[in-house]
Amino acid sequence: MKRRILNIACIGAGYVGGPTMAVIADRCPHVSVTVIDLNEARIAAWNSDTLPVYEPGLDEVIRRTRGRNLRFIPQREGAAAVAAADAVFISVNTPTKTQGAGAGKASDLGYVEACARYIAEHALGHTIVIEKSTMPVRAADTIKRILATSPRVGTFDVLSNPEFLAEGTAIRDLEKPDRVLIGGETPAAVDALAEVYAHWVPDQAILRTGLWSAELSKLAANAFLAQRVSSINAISALCEVTGAQVEEVAKVLGTDTRIGPKFLKASVGFGGSCFKKDLLSLVYLCEFYGLTEPAAYWQSVQDLNEWQKRRFAQMAATHAKKQGGVVAVLGLAFKKNTNDFRESPAIDICNYLLAAGVRLRLQDERVDPHMFGAVLVDDHKAGFDFFCEAAEAVRGADAILVLTEWDQYATLDWRKLSTVAAPGVMIFDGRTVVDPVAASAAGLPVFTVGIGAAK
Ligand code: NAD
Ligand code: UGA
Repeated sequence: MKRRILNIACIGAGYVGGPTMAVIADRCPHVSVTVIDLNEARIAAWNSDTLPVYEPGLDEVIRRTRGRNLRFIPQREGAAAVAAADAVFISVNTPTKTQGAGAGKASDLGYVEACARYIAEHALGHTIVIEKSTMPVRAADTIKRILATSPRVGTFDVLSNPEFLAEGTAIRDLEKPDRVLIGGETPAAVDALAEVYAHWVPDQAILRTGLWSAELSKLAANAFLAQRVSSINAISALCEVTGAQVEEVAKVLGTDTRIGPKFLKASVGFGGSCFKKDLLSLVYLCEFYGLTEPAAYWQSVQDLNEWQKRRFAQMAATHAKKQGGVVAVLGLAFKKNTNDFRESPAIDICNYLLAAGVRLRLQDERVDPHMFGAVLVDDHKAGFDFFCEAAEAVRGADAILVLTEWDQYATLDWRKLSTVAAPGVMIFDGRTVVDPVAASAAGLPVFTVGIGAAK
């Protein structure tokens, strides 16, 4: 039977649910889209002029769609939207479990299970339930089991349609995706979802697979990306001690068409809400199936990342402690063009410095200082303050750490900054974004990840 999706509900109005549904509504004006969330403050923000997610281009898409065929509502008002929906996306968080079997590694499916129960309770007729969240392979079994308990006389298909957008480029990624992946067992349901995407995604970019392949492909894709960052970061350390330059090495590697140029940027380590949790989820799955060596392999990608952050923090702490013990941290977001700092390398590096008794002066153009302050641990009362401008943050600093590649850090006026920083200040560039010529001309020594100290 041919099915058409004209009414969509999405549970979860976060970094994925909000932008993804906004782009679907934009490209499919004939489809009515309702985004539901338990977090009423977040829903209020989606309905305001200050969206809860900062993404270039998002404001414009929301302006075109909100109130037309896109609406954001609190979950307590969501039952009718689920009942009316032909398709319900589950786009809630799937964090690492903190207790019970697999704690510290396995994904916590509690939020997904709550969604499945909510759908089972309110859905009417035939409903296509779509996994948009990143799930462990075979999670669809759990969802199907819960849906089977529906008190209503409804029927369900479950599809896996993982999201590949990256933050900071989410709108571009959604409007022009490399691929859209749909895994499912019922061709009519897969076709119905493919028909939605076909309004703007070329047919050859819509990949159809089995359910388990789709679920596993998402975890594997993130693990491969994280592995590339850890690989180049492992090389970065070797560059620093041998005189090789990581950017030159990366360029050589990237021109091999079998390797390709992307994801070869050395850094203070990868961050973001997903790489670590998805790697750990993969490690857990391997262990669960008794695959010890593959588990150890993927664990090593995460371990290298922790090491990269730690060695950078150690170098900066050692330098700052020899001087007045004050460090300016420029950049708190896990990458540029986002206000997201979940699992940002800046968190671990700041906490390492605070534990070493270093006083911090923090600056980021998008991250909310109160929210960032809440994840810092300052048991030794070393102290931290936030500043709006980089020039203020570096005042009196013995070390300046650049932890996010915000464009503004590439054009900082180092001559001016050198007059307000402490004598003996050193720059630690964790993103190869600082202009070393300008910094050296201002008399400031620079340590760059993957290059080492400028001579
Ligand atoms: P998020 O934390 O920003 O948003 C999740 C939202 O779900 C929250 O607003 C929360 O209040 C809501 N929620 C949780 N349980 C709920 C329930 N039972 N009913 C209603 N609302 C509920 O998370 P996110 O970054 O959007 O990620 C969501 C999923 O997408 C995760 O599985 C993640 O791995 C995956 N993913 C994220 C990205 C990304 O860039 N952030 C990219 C691809 C995939
Ligand atoms: C990543 C993937 O790129 C998306 O495809 C995926 O959908 C998403 O995770 C997810 O599942 O959440 P995201 O974490 O938003 O997207 O951002 P990335 O661009 O992948 O960057 C992740 C981290 O790696 C950042 O801290 C970034 O600075 C770092 N990175 C990235 C490097 O250090 N070097 C690189 O060359 C690339």
